[in-house]
Amino acid sequence: MLRQSSTLKMTWKLLWVPFLLAAWALPTTSSLHPDQPKVLLVAFDGFRWDYLYKVPTPHFHSVMKYGVHVKQVTNIFITKTYPNFYTMVTGLFAESHGIVSNDMFDPVLNKSFSLDHMDIYDSEFWEAATPIWITNQRAGHSSGAAMWPGTDVKIHGTFPTRYMPYNQSIPFEERVAKIIEWFTSKEPINLGLLYWEDPDDMGHHLGPDSPLMGTVISDIDNKLGYLIKMLKKAKLWGTLNLIITSDHGMTQCSEERIIELDQYLDRDHYVLIDQSPVAAILPKEGEFDEVYETLAHAHPNLTVYKREEIPERWHYRYNRRIQPIIAVADQGWHVVQNKSEDFMLGNHGYDNALPEMHPIFLAQGPAFRKNFTKESMNSTDLYPLLCHLLDITATPHNGSFQKVQDLLRSAAPRTTPDGKSTTPLHGRTKPKEYEQEESYAYFIGVSLGSILVIIFFVIFIKHLVRSQMPDVGAVHPEIVQPLLHA
Ligand SMILES: *[C@@H]1O[C@H](CO)[C@@H](O)[C@H](O)[C@H]1NC(C)=O
Ligand SMILES: *[C@@H]1O[C@H](CO)[C@@H](O)[C@H](O)[C@H]1NC(C)=O
Ligand SMILES: *[C@@H]1O[C@H](CO)[C@@H](O)[C@H](O)[C@H]1NC(C)=O
Ligand SMILES: *[C@@H]1O[C@H](CO)[C@@H](O)[C@H](O)[C@H]1NC(C)=O
Ligand SMILES: *[C@@H]1O[C@H](CO)[C@@H](O)[C@H](O)[C@H]1NC(C)=O
Ligand SMILES: *[C@@H]1O[C@H](CO)[C@@H](O)[C@H](O)[C@H]1NC(C)=O
Ligand SMILES: *[C@@H]1O[C@H](CO)[C@@H](O)[C@H](O)[C@H]1NC(C)=O
Ligand SMILES: [Zn+2]
Repeated sequence: MLRQSSTLKMTWKLLWVPFLLAAWALPTTSSLHPDQPKVLLVAFDGFRWDYLYKVPTPHFHSVMKYGVHVKQVTNIFITKTYPNFYTMVTGLFAESHGIVSNDMFDPVLNKSFSLDHMDIYDSEFWEAATPIWITNQRAGHSSGAAMWPGTDVKIHGTFPTRYMPYNQSIPFEERVAKIIEWFTSKEPINLGLLYWEDPDDMGHHLGPDSPLMGTVISDIDNKLGYLIKMLKKAKLWGTLNLIITSDHGMTQCSEERIIELDQYLDRDHYVLIDQSPVAAILPKEGEFDEVYETLAHAHPNLTVYKREEIPERWHYRYNRRIQPIIAVADQGWHVVQNKSEDFMLGNHGYDNALPEMHPIFLAQGPAFRKNFTKESMNSTDLYPLLCHLLDITATPHNGSFQKVQDLLRSAAPRTTPDGKSTTPLHGRTKPKEYEQEESYAYFIGVSLGSILVIIFFVIFIKHLVRSQMPDVGAVHPEIVQPLLHA
């Protein structure tokens, strides 16, 4: 008995050697493919571009320093949540992807879509486009979504490979845990989509100019810090491309700036499909001219358009869900039918040319340059950028990969319109060949590591044989085999 136990002790001691070596070699193996595309897209709803400077946001600033930052992102009109979220994952303007507002009516389907009642699950509203999670899956990959708007809707008969049904009460930490579980599972996702409701909720409630917004923004910065900490813990940090963005900004409203439709229009003459700051108006049969004429001269801070006269730059015209008349309030003005209705201190939805409607955009990861600031981009360009990172073929869209290519470190020398060839400005940017040499080095390292592991196994097995333990054969396969497989 005594002899047996001392040999077992020896066996255990020796077992540690190959185990430690394997543990040392394994993380290196995962960097064997530094180009393995992995993308995590994170959106904090209603995070205005300049919230970054309102209070200290060290985690956001760290991403900017070790990654890229775009100062002005022109999102799409209308600057509401669902239209912009669908643009991020399709690269299409609202008139083309079909989610033209948070509240819509489709006269052909004779159906309504409403965020207020979470009445958004009708597939038909979504199927003019194919979101990136589906295209990614069709290319043989897996996508995972933690509450990203639209990801729990069945679109073209499909859901994301992994997703959480929407539930506002699920804490951020739980969403992060799911995303990390999916990225590190046996059949890992290569595309993760993570959504958080703030600072939009509090922005509406307090108004963006409230000093209390500072606490809200600090809290979001802590959430980003938590996400980064968990990604590091899961050994995903450094191999994954993290993109942090938002759908829109927020502007301060006031009870002094209310436009009350009841003062001008008879409710029997129209149906109000969407309210503020872009009132979508469906006149009743035969009432179009009267409703339009009345409203056009109603209020100096309300600009009224017939659908076919909506400015070209909004790309908000050619869709039957855009109502025959839209009335767009000036920034900071609020449209209601009756003043007795609820009022919010902060809102968005206004002209997408207004800086206060613009979201943040930062990214860090192996594909991105470091400490690089870009002045501006269109949010439609995110989609082709994502497709490039995931190495999948983009469906037709309204963005341009060329316009955002300079965010990437492997951006090939480009030819500018004036014919001059430009190379990326930063010294850290490495051409492709260097990256390949780097991966040869990894390969050699891993090979040497593996050979060492094998040598130790041989010594270990020899030791076992010499120890003449009668039950060695039983111990050996159980303990050693999992290591051989690792
Ligand atoms: C549209 O649906 C409503 C019920 O939601 C119904 O009362 C109406 O008749 C329908 N209209 C048409 C044209 O089918
Ligand atoms: C949403 O999550 C909360 C907290 O986990 C839970 O109590 C609630 O039942 C969930 N709601 C639904 C509709 O699943
Ligand atoms: C509201 O309208 C007045 C009068 O036309 C104009 O002076 C003011 O600038 C407008 N407000 C905004 C926020 O555009
Ligand atoms: C607007 O609200 C007030 C107060 O609730 C009410 O007295 C009035 O009739 C409403 N106006 C219309 C046109 O519904
Ligand atoms: C980042 O870039 C700015 C100028 O673009 C420079 O002043 C700063 O020193 C750089 N920081 C790091 C850490 O490289
Ligand atoms: C955004 O797109 C428009 C065309 O739709 C283009 O004129 C403009 O230059 C783009 N802006 C940026 C920053 O790429
Ligand atoms: C946007 O892209 C879609 C799909 O390619 C296309 O049908 C549409 O005409 C484009 N819109 C604009 C304004 O170019
Ligand atoms: Zn909002």
